[in-house]
Amino acid sequence: MNLLDVEGLHARYGSAEVLHGIDFAVPAGEVTVVLGANGAGKTTILRSICAMVHTTGRIVFDGRDISGLRTDRIACLGVAHVPQGRGTFGDLTVEENLRIGGYTTSTAATERAIDRWYDFFPRLRERRRRPAAGLSGGEQQMLAIARALVAGPRLLLLDEPSLGLAPRITQEVFRALARINADTGTTILVVEQNAHLALDIGTSAVLVDAGRVVAQRPAESLARDESVRRAYLGY
Ligand SMILES: Nc1ncnc2c1ncn2[C@@H]1O[C@H](COP(=O)(O)OP(=O)(O)OP(=O)(O)O)[C@@H](O)[C@H]1O
Ligand SMILES: [Mg+2]
Repeated sequence: MNLLDVEGLHARYGSAEVLHGIDFAVPAGEVTVVLGANGAGKTTILRSICAMVHTTGRIVFDGRDISGLRTDRIACLGVAHVPQGRGTFGDLTVEENLRIGGYTTSTAATERAIDRWYDFFPRLRERRRRPAAGLSGGEQQMLAIARALVAGPRLLLLDEPSLGLAPRITQEVFRALARINADTGTTILVVEQNAHLALDIGTSAVLVDAGRVVAQRPAESLARDESVRRAYLGY
């Protein structure tokens, strides 16, 4: 079963169309990876799902067409978005950032959820009273992920979680994502330049080139396909 189905999706900024009718599916409970070169349209795909750009086409979440809905309604239905560059508030403390993640749920549920994600990311608990700006890059990414999870989403969208992180920290982030998926069953759609790491935790991969989907394949078969690797993944 698919949690998300994208059908004939076009997206534009002003008069410039950047997604030209794309189709792909996100199977429920799995990790799906979106790969493609700079400017291919990966970020725009995630923005389209959250209604942050002008789109046409169908976006079906859990059997319901959400393409006409507002961003906040989509969030309430259980879609959380960790944007490229993380989007945490540097002046606010770690805990204040996490509370913002709970704006769609009750206070008590938020406090319980925050406690749970502190168990998962103990370093966030240690730094709970500190401004987010004082965290390391890896800690800020963990904070952005925890904030997205506080409301208990069914679909977690992540845009380049490895951006600006050292390889060791990137590995840590991807291990955390794999564990979140395994422990909570949260479906994940992750855009990532680091194809190698992403394919390692993903079950299926969507290959995007110049605003079109070139292929959606099982991650394993993509990682083994030398011509695809050389043409699109650069390794
Ligand atoms: N706000 C915007 N206004 C106009 N054009 C935009 C805007 N944001 C992105 N674009 C254009 O849309 C196309 C797709 O951009 P997008 O950010 O989705 O690519 P991407 O695959 O995420 O790239 P990257 O790997 O660099 O993050 C690019 O040609 C880009 O220049
Ligand atoms: Mg991008």
